[in-house]
Amino acid sequence: MRVTIFGAAGLLGTALMQQWTGDEVTGLDIADGDIRDPQQVFAMVERTRPEWIVLTAAYTDVDACETNCKLAFEVNCQGPVNMAQAAKRFGARLLFISTDYVFNGTNSTPYEVDAPRGPRSVYGQSKAEAEIHLLQILPECCIVRTSWLFGVRGKSFPDTILKLAATRSEIDVVDDQRGSPTYAPDLARAIIQLCHTGASGIVHVTNRGECTWFEFAREIVSAAGLNTTVRPTTSDKFVRPAARPKYSVLSPKSLDQLGITMPTWQDALRRYLAERNSVAA
Ligand SMILES: NC(=O)c1ccc[n+]([C@@H]2O[C@H](COP(=O)([O-])OP(=O)(O)OC[C@H]3O[C@@H](n4cnc5c(N)ncnc54)[C@H](OP(=O)(O)O)[C@@H]3O)[C@@H](O)[C@H]2O)c1
Repeated sequence: MRVTIFGAAGLLGTALMQQWTGDEVTGLDIADGDIRDPQQVFAMVERTRPEWIVLTAAYTDVDACETNCKLAFEVNCQGPVNMAQAAKRFGARLLFISTDYVFNGTNSTPYEVDAPRGPRSVYGQSKAEAEIHLLQILPECCIVRTSWLFGVRGKSFPDTILKLAATRSEIDVVDDQRGSPTYAPDLARAIIQLCHTGASGIVHVTNRGECTWFEFAREIVSAAGLNTTVRPTTSDKFVRPAARPKYSVLSPKSLDQLGITMPTWQDALRRYLAERNSVAA
């Protein structure tokens, strides 16, 4: 199978490039072309002629999206639209990565794939609009919604907590936002399986289980064997430009139906810590 990954230098893209063996995989990123430009997108797809396009490239700075609204929509909505049109033109399948931020966060039970969208941030709006356009342009596309992505590449929550814990005896972490952490290599493996099975429609893919950021941080500190005290606090003590969903757990039902099971986030965290240690060694 021939596959082109757009966003190959990012957190998820790097994991995909590492995990994807046995197929002919090309990884492209901003240095190869800008997904906002339809001509560049068409040229990259024409050159690589993939059977599957996996689009992970995005403007992912959720807070910066609030002030750079135009850029957010250009990258996160027009970029995917360009990709869908190129996929249609060259007969490729498209797998697009979306987010739990398409929901408003008022649920108290996991969001199913057909739950109504209600984004509360520019980032969430740009992704929600992309989903709607993609399903119109390419009804057979696959949209993978994920959440709370972490991995050894780039900035991610466990790394921030471990760096803080190395210098502080106490850290405060919000305990009123609940979701599911997702380890990039686990998500990458699920995406590869989805492409191999020819999946279409919306699929929710996160590590199994749920927690608050406080509970996640407490587990990170404990699993790393550190003595720092993690204290629960509330979001009003950490006001950010973009609204965060209070609850954004994504139901695993759509993935279960495809016979794919994700490891728990606690198991993923332990493998992340081992990978982080081996990278540092
Ligand atoms: N991170 C999370 O917690 C999370 C949660 C839910 C869903 N997601 C979604 O999962 C996907 C992967 O996220 P990630 O954390 O791996 O993202 P990431 O690390 O920020 O990687 C995104 C990549 O896209 C590139 N890019 C940005 N603008 C581009 C453009 N106009 N043309 C071409 N490439 C461009 C970036 O390059 P530069 O770095 O040079 O800008 C970067 O290499 C994204 O679609 C994201 O929205 C992420």
